[in-house]
Amino acid sequence: MPRSHCYCLSGYIIYFSLLIHTLASPPLHLCLHDQRDALLEFKDEFPIDELDPVPWNKITSTDCCFWKGVTCDDKSGQVISLNLHDTNLNGSLKANSSLFRLQHLRHLNLTGCSLQGEIPSSLGNLSRLTLVDLSQNDLVGEIPSSISNLKRLRYVNLGANELSGEIPFSVGNLNQLRYLILAANMLTGEIPSSLGNLSRLLDLRLSINNLVGQVPAFIGNLTELQVVSLGQNKLNGSVPKSFANLTKLYHISLRSNYLTSTLPFDMSGFHNLEHFDVGNNSFLGSFPKSLFLIPSLQVVNLEDNQFTGTIDFVNTSTSLPNLDYLNLGSNRFHGPIPESISRFLNLGELDLSLNNFTGTIPRSISKLANLDVLDLSDNKLQGQVPGSLWRLTTMTLSRNCFSSFEKPNPSEETLIQALDLNSNSFRGPLPHWFCKIQWLSFLDLSNNLFNGSIPPCLSNSIVSFTCLILRNNSFSGLLPDIFSNATELRSLDVSRNKLEGNLPRSLISCVSLRLVSVESNRIKGQFPSWLGSLPSLHVLILRSNDFYGPLDESVGFESLRVIDLSHNDFTGTLQPHSFSSWRGMTTVREEDDPYMADIINYSTFYRNSMVLVIKGVETSFERIQQDFRAVDISGNRIYGKIPESLCLLKELRLLNLSGNAFTSDIPRSLANLTKLETLDLSSNNLSGQIPQELGELSFLSYMNFSHNLLRGHVPRSTQFQSQRCSSFSDNSGLYGLEEICGETHVLDPTSQQQPEELAESEEPMFNWIAAAVAYGPGVFCGLVIGHIFFNSRYYKLVGEKKLKVTSSAR
Ligand SMILES: *[C@@H]1O[C@H](CO)[C@@H](O)[C@H](O)[C@H]1NC(C)=O
Ligand SMILES: *[C@@H]1O[C@H](CO)[C@@H](O)[C@H](O)[C@H]1NC(C)=O
Ligand SMILES: *[C@@H]1O[C@H](CO)[C@@H](O)[C@H](O)[C@H]1NC(C)=O
Ligand SMILES: *[C@@H]1O[C@H](CO)[C@@H](O)[C@H](O)[C@H]1NC(C)=O
Ligand SMILES: *[C@@H]1O[C@H](CO)[C@@H](O)[C@H](O)[C@H]1NC(C)=O
Ligand SMILES: *[C@@H]1O[C@H](CO)[C@@H](O)[C@H](O)[C@H]1NC(C)=O
Ligand SMILES: *[C@@H]1O[C@H](CO)[C@@H](O)[C@H](O)[C@H]1NC(C)=O
Ligand SMILES: *[C@@H]1O[C@H](CO)[C@@H](O)[C@H](O)[C@H]1NC(C)=O
Ligand SMILES: *[C@@H]1O[C@H](CO)[C@@H](O)[C@H](O)[C@H]1NC(C)=O
Ligand SMILES: *[C@@H]1O[C@H](CO)[C@@H](O)[C@H](O)[C@H]1NC(C)=O
Ligand SMILES: *[C@@H]1O[C@H](CO)[C@@H](O)[C@H](O)[C@H]1NC(C)=O
Ligand SMILES: *[C@@H]1O[C@H](CO)[C@@H](O)[C@H](O)[C@H]1NC(C)=O
Repeated sequence: MPRSHCYCLSGYIIYFSLLIHTLASPPLHLCLHDQRDALLEFKDEFPIDELDPVPWNKITSTDCCFWKGVTCDDKSGQVISLNLHDTNLNGSLKANSSLFRLQHLRHLNLTGCSLQGEIPSSLGNLSRLTLVDLSQNDLVGEIPSSISNLKRLRYVNLGANELSGEIPFSVGNLNQLRYLILAANMLTGEIPSSLGNLSRLLDLRLSINNLVGQVPAFIGNLTELQVVSLGQNKLNGSVPKSFANLTKLYHISLRSNYLTSTLPFDMSGFHNLEHFDVGNNSFLGSFPKSLFLIPSLQVVNLEDNQFTGTIDFVNTSTSLPNLDYLNLGSNRFHGPIPESISRFLNLGELDLSLNNFTGTIPRSISKLANLDVLDLSDNKLQGQVPGSLWRLTTMTLSRNCFSSFEKPNPSEETLIQALDLNSNSFRGPLPHWFCKIQWLSFLDLSNNLFNGSIPPCLSNSIVSFTCLILRNNSFSGLLPDIFSNATELRSLDVSRNKLEGNLPRSLISCVSLRLVSVESNRIKGQFPSWLGSLPSLHVLILRSNDFYGPLDESVGFESLRVIDLSHNDFTGTLQPHSFSSWRGMTTVREEDDPYMADIINYSTFYRNSMVLVIKGVETSFERIQQDFRAVDISGNRIYGKIPESLCLLKELRLLNLSGNAFTSDIPRSLANLTKLETLDLSSNNLSGQIPQELGELSFLSYMNFSHNLLRGHVPRSTQFQSQRCSSFSDNSGLYGLEEICGETHVLDPTSQQQPEELAESEEPMFNWIAAAVAYGPGVFCGLVIGHIFFNSRYYKLVGEKKLKVTSSAR
């Protein structure tokens, strides 16, 4: 069909020709001249996107009704819809924008357009608007109250911006409104009572803001509601009883508020309910049995509340075929896991962690053919782990009393990728069928009673491993040389076993290694300087083994953050340039490691549970990722001068050189380690004075200079004055200790230290490295205290940084 060049014609002729065409043939959209001009000017309000090969505002065709995103009314030719979704406008909507001359606009969709600045109140001039979608931009400022002029609005989505201020009271005037989506902004204040007027509302999403006050009682009057999402605000008080009247709801999310109330006794009235998430509040009372009578349920999250009592899924014959995610974690449930769990035929993820469940895993769990992720950690479960569970991909059973597992069922494929059996009572040798598990990536068997040798056949499956944690068992024999294909391995922790022999050379192939800990075994050999070529090695712990020989080949180790070589038999001197290549100790740069950045982002979602578990050492989890740097070579036979090059390790928090045979002066340059918190130079042959400059180390909170040949005045500084007296004992001529040791207790420098005092003074040091590193293996593997990072649907559910707030309907 030929399109006339309306460009030069007057509005009248366009209208006339349009009329002709509507009579003669299918409608031809002809752009009205004022509308075209308004659109052309609107285009010019934004820069041309140089990166876009076809930028929207460069296209010139004569008929604006054919421009991308523009829809005209068939009859009048007026522009009635503008949809520029996901166009990079990269600018702001001006108060006098020509957009507001498109007076016939009904739909305005500028989602994902990189809009900045405020929403101009002139938006209220487009009085015919029924739909406004400005979501997923960078809009700031308040929601203009002029929006209440738009009496025909049925759909408003301003979600995923940075809007602040309160929700305008006048929004209650929009009595045609079906959708009100303001989620993922920074809105404050209470939910305005005027919303009680919006009797046609279907969808109310205010989650991820800073709203305070209560869930308003009027909400029970909005009986058309299908979606209520108020999660991640600061709402408190109880949920109004009238909520139970909202029987059309299919999506309820109240997660992460401060709500405390019981749930309605009978929830079966929510007969369309699919998504129910009240996680991370203070809900009380017994297990909401009635919820599990609703066949449409897909997601149930009750985690992190104060529900009590036993659980029971009502043993009716009806199954809940849609339930995919069930999380009862972090409550106070107790008693057995009921066999009726098998009603949820298509359950994909089950989390019962951090409760007091007892008894065994019910056999009926084998009927859950789609179960994929299971977390039963931190309960009091016992007995045998059913063989049917080997077809799951992720299983976390840590901190229970399980004692054995069945063989995989030969008729079923073994799909396990992540297996955490930490802190149970598993015993005996590791069965050889473990070597046949094809996809295993994360294996934590620590704190059990496993013994026997580590099977060399693991070399078959090691190719997929990211984490192998066998800490604190009784494995014996050699650490087998199985790592030549372990290029994904990030953490290897075999600490506290009875392993012998040398460190396997094949570790050199593990280019992804972040952590190696072989602490407290009987491993021997020279310092494994060859590990220095591993580009990402962050943590190396060789503590308490039989390593020997000099430490002079410490080149490489560019990413090293924590090294603990203590309590071995290393000897010789430290070379002047010994530490010059350890760049990981001279900078704190997380951005180099996108993987770590991921984990850090993720961990912010878990701050609560981390603090819960770490207890006394609350900061250590974050420290190991971010700033903890430590060198411990105590308890060896190193002699000679403390090399000046140590002061290159500017980020060092902990330095322990105690229990060696260092001689000569303490280098003044140690004072360049301005972040040092812990310094132990005790039990050496150091002489001369304690450098006065060390008094300026303002973070230094623990130090120990005892058992040396030091003399002269102890530095005067707050840090020194707050040390215990024993930190200076047994030196040949230290003075100025009156304030530290008390007038009456001035040290006799020749007195012998009590053995228990020595042990006591060593303790804070050891705790620090152990605490910081204990969470290391998991951290480096993506296990964040009980929750395994990969596979979980949970992350998909709430972990997205900006919740996508879109809707299919209008
Ligand atoms: C937005 O415009 C600014 C200049 O005004 C430019 O520096 C920036 O790269 C643009 N951003 C995008 C995403 O186009
Ligand atoms: C919007 O309407 C107000 C009056 O309600 C008027 O003063 C203003 O100029 C209008 N803005 C635009 C851009 O048309
Ligand atoms: C809109 O206002 C700005 C100043 O705020 C002015 O520079 C611009 O020319 C105005 N545009 C129109 C179309 O009136
Ligand atoms: C806006 O446009 C995007 C892309 O077409 C679409 O996904 C979204 O649903 C639209 N918004 C509304 C309210 O229709
Ligand atoms: C709510 O509705 C009532 C009656 O329909 C009306 O008088 C009142 O002004 C409305 N309130 C708001 C905030 O819109
Ligand atoms: C609910 O609606 C009824 C009838 O319109 C009204 O009387 C009542 O005050 C409303 N309740 C709340 C809490 O707004
Ligand atoms: C809710 O929080 C506010 C302020 O934080 C407080 O004043 C109010 O008493 C709390 N209400 C309830 C029911 O806890
Ligand atoms: C629920 O609605 C019924 C009528 O629809 C009404 O009688 C009752 O008071 C409402 N209950 C609550 C708690 O609002
Ligand atoms: C739990 O809710 C509180 C309060 O909204 C929030 O600060 C915290 O981050 C939430 N924790 C998790 C794990 O979602
Ligand atoms: C589990 O039970 C013990 C003792 O019965 C109690 O001290 C503890 O608080 C309970 N833990 C939970 C999470 O309910
Ligand atoms: C490593 O993998 C290669 C092929 O991928 C294989 O030929 C070799 O046997 C493997 N080595 C070990 C020690 O398993
Ligand atoms: C220690 O720091 C001072 C000043 O920051 C600098 O002049 C000196 O060279 C440093 N010492 C060493 C050994 O790097």
